[in-house]
Amino acid sequence: MCSFEKCWLNYACNEMSSKYAGIFKSIYSDFDGTVTGNTIAEIKEGFGIFFGKEPVLLEKQANMCDGIWLKQYEKSDNKAADEFEPGTEGYSIYYDGENQLIVVAASGENGVMYGVFELLRIIQSGRDICDINICHAPKMPIRMIDHWDNIMGDIERGYSGDSFFFKENEILFGDRTKAYARMMASIGINAITINNVNVHEVESYLITDRFLGMMKKYSDLFVSYGIKLYLSVNFASPMQIGGLGVCDPLDDGVIKWWNETSRHVYEVIPEFGGYLVKADSEGRPGPFTYGRTHADGANMLAKSVSPFGGNVVWRCFVYNCKQDWRDRKTDRARAAYDNFAGLDGQFDDNVILQIKNGPMDFQVREPVSPLFGAMKKTNMFLEVQAAQEYTGQQRHICYLVPMWKEILDFDTHASDRGCISEIVSGKAYGNRLCGMAAVTNTGDDANWTGHDFAAANLFGYGMLCFDTERSAQDIAAEWAACTFGIDKEIVDNVCRMLIMSWPAYEKYTSPLGIGWMVNPSDHYGPNVDGYEYDVWGTYHRADCKGVGIDRSAATGTGYAAQYNSPWRELYERVETTPEELLLFFHHISYDHVLSTKKTVIQHIYDTHFEGVEDVERMIGLWKALEGKIDAARFARVLERLTVQYESSKEWRDRINTYFYRMSGIADSKGRTIY
Ligand code: GCU
Repeated sequence: MCSFEKCWLNYACNEMSSKYAGIFKSIYSDFDGTVTGNTIAEIKEGFGIFFGKEPVLLEKQANMCDGIWLKQYEKSDNKAADEFEPGTEGYSIYYDGENQLIVVAASGENGVMYGVFELLRIIQSGRDICDINICHAPKMPIRMIDHWDNIMGDIERGYSGDSFFFKENEILFGDRTKAYARMMASIGINAITINNVNVHEVESYLITDRFLGMMKKYSDLFVSYGIKLYLSVNFASPMQIGGLGVCDPLDDGVIKWWNETSRHVYEVIPEFGGYLVKADSEGRPGPFTYGRTHADGANMLAKSVSPFGGNVVWRCFVYNCKQDWRDRKTDRARAAYDNFAGLDGQFDDNVILQIKNGPMDFQVREPVSPLFGAMKKTNMFLEVQAAQEYTGQQRHICYLVPMWKEILDFDTHASDRGCISEIVSGKAYGNRLCGMAAVTNTGDDANWTGHDFAAANLFGYGMLCFDTERSAQDIAAEWAACTFGIDKEIVDNVCRMLIMSWPAYEKYTSPLGIGWMVNPSDHYGPNVDGYEYDVWGTYHRADCKGVGIDRSAATGTGYAAQYNSPWRELYERVETTPEELLLFFHHISYDHVLSTKKTVIQHIYDTHFEGVEDVERMIGLWKALEGKIDAARFARVLERLTVQYESSKEWRDRINTYFYRMSGIADSKGRTIY
């Protein structure tokens, strides 16, 4: 038996199976590379299960019929959209009913592979092939996954077991590696960084002969699924492993060291994607030590890989993590903008800045980082976190696709094409290198993601990068059908659970954008003052009169002024700040009345009771599926829902009690608060 499951690649017979049984006997292909090899294997496996018989690869002939044709794209293959350019990764799919031939047409192998995976999802979720008429090309040029796996085998912020890449300073490679590459290809991922952004001593050697042979094996496997391998590197490598006394990016010896190191990396792995760098952040070394800018640091590395077509992804998660809580002027939220906005235009063409979605750190609710609206001459990635560090750690269901969609839809007003989705897809400023990166939520648990429902975030991330216009509901429904089967009640209930989960989590944890009321270090469970008197810049500033941080320009930290108009004016004033972010931008008294006619304190009480009730509803929806879902997965999910329920009550009671004691104002509905 396999030690891992198939997630959404759980091909199974359905109504379409009998309708098309025995028809698709042949595969014809205009392509013949390694990606095509994997694509054909996928068709055989999928069609074998769906239609009862594996099709056979045949030579192309004049009258092709009764099968599937992987076809070189021509204009006449566009049967759907008026304007469609497949590019290197797009495809069209249509059905020629007369010849019983499914055509998947693309300009290259990767496009064909993505088309085939979409075709298989269509069949898997019970839609009829005869209606297919699709032209799709990915919206994001680069669709990246970042692993925070350490070479010892543990995963930073990992909630689903250990790494399946590393164990005790060795590299793992086996069936699971291949299954993983296939899974990522199936959702359109084309870049993967396999090691943690915090690069410790041994990981620093990943770019040396000690490990490059294995990295080459990884790259070859990934390339056969259309994926580029990236590695996180230690900015201080010239010192850590190169024997130099400095890592100053303008030092000749350092420049030479990186040039030689990168040249060697590309000698061994010509297809290598490039480096991911966390510098001057949370104790990691960086250019600041030498009075250099982040552009100096990034460009030095970028020049070392540019002759080989490589990229440098440089993270903007740079802030002072040794703050004094008494200091009300320093504001962590300002940091990314303050450190990077002024450098717009100074980065080399093959540098991409990776910017976290919000100004803090993957909280359940944050405004969108103002840095996206401040740069027009810089390649940017939107970084999100599928790993649920602050959103229930894969013990709670928290479907993040609706959050990511809100972020992508946010208009920075930097230009008339200033939406985040336009910026990071390269449409706003014509960038070639841009896209999204997600900190992933996988590990070596049999189901890959700990909570079965957490796989919806991984799947959804891929789907959204490919097509930012797809709805969260539509993605949820497809995931549910592919994972659990097409039974209507299953799909309906699973979708309802997913769609209600992010609002529910927000309700029982974090009122009105405040965030951070978690246990320090492990970030699980409530601890209202856990970070209040700490050095991390993460405060709620609650007192007996009110709660929230004044980030206005007039009286606060000035963060609101980092946005373009009209946001800067809207966030500046209490009356015009969107209420879900009210406490993020302002210190508000408990008796302030919201648009719902409730006071802030009553809102806190009500949402915390409601959040727990929502979890009860989710449990009811799941229990209704007993007997329809296989017993093992049913029990596994129910167990986690029970954990979520207990935890949500703990959150409710701690938060409500804290603010009741702080404010002295009773719940108008007289419910139990301690
Ligand atoms: C968070 C997280 C760290 C991580 C960091 C990062 O602070 O808690 O574990 O290293 O983000 O994104 O670099």
